[in-house]
Amino acid sequence: MAIRPILTEGHPMLRQQAKKVRRLDASLRRLVDDMFDTMHDADGLGLAAPQVGVPLRLIVIEHEDERYVLFNPEITRQRGTVTDDEGCLSLPQWFGPVARSEQVTVKGRDRAGKAVRLKLEGLLARAIQHEVDHLDGTLFTDRVEDRAQLRYVDPAQDTGPQPPASDDPDGTAPADEPDQQAAAS
Ligand code: NI
Repeated sequence: MAIRPILTEGHPMLRQQAKKVRRLDASLRRLVDDMFDTMHDADGLGLAAPQVGVPLRLIVIEHEDERYVLFNPEITRQRGTVTDDEGCLSLPQWFGPVARSEQVTVKGRDRAGKAVRLKLEGLLARAIQHEVDHLDGTLFTDRVEDRAQLRYVDPAQDTGPQPPASDDPDGTAPADEPDQQAAAS
């Protein structure tokens, strides 16, 4: 297992149509493991293979200790609309409101290659739509209604409660997470 570099906006692979996975082999299972490691390292909620430089239709999501692996995910049903903040590991520190379906049904194949069909709602439904977008070369910023709504949250400017100086003599304490920050994927 390993942490792979995450491509950021401007890299052409993030704008490509990813290819369908034809055959599941050991290298793809290793890729799945690496994607979870990479996502954890970056504090993300989801990750799509093109974000780590692999132009294949594979996404991973982890939420409340539940892991989701989907090869060739296809959203087959969508219901309702809800607008909420999104972030993306390929656009670090940028956030903005995106309208997404409230509930989705998605089908694909799991880590073992077994056909699965999931009905998801809320944050998971949002994450699935965000990751499937990555497979089609779409970034969440394309879906923000007005680009003026995009916000950059500078980690150095983060104004969460700071520890007293004496607690942090080396100045190495990490900045607090902003309260309202959406999970990035
Ligand atoms: Ni993303």
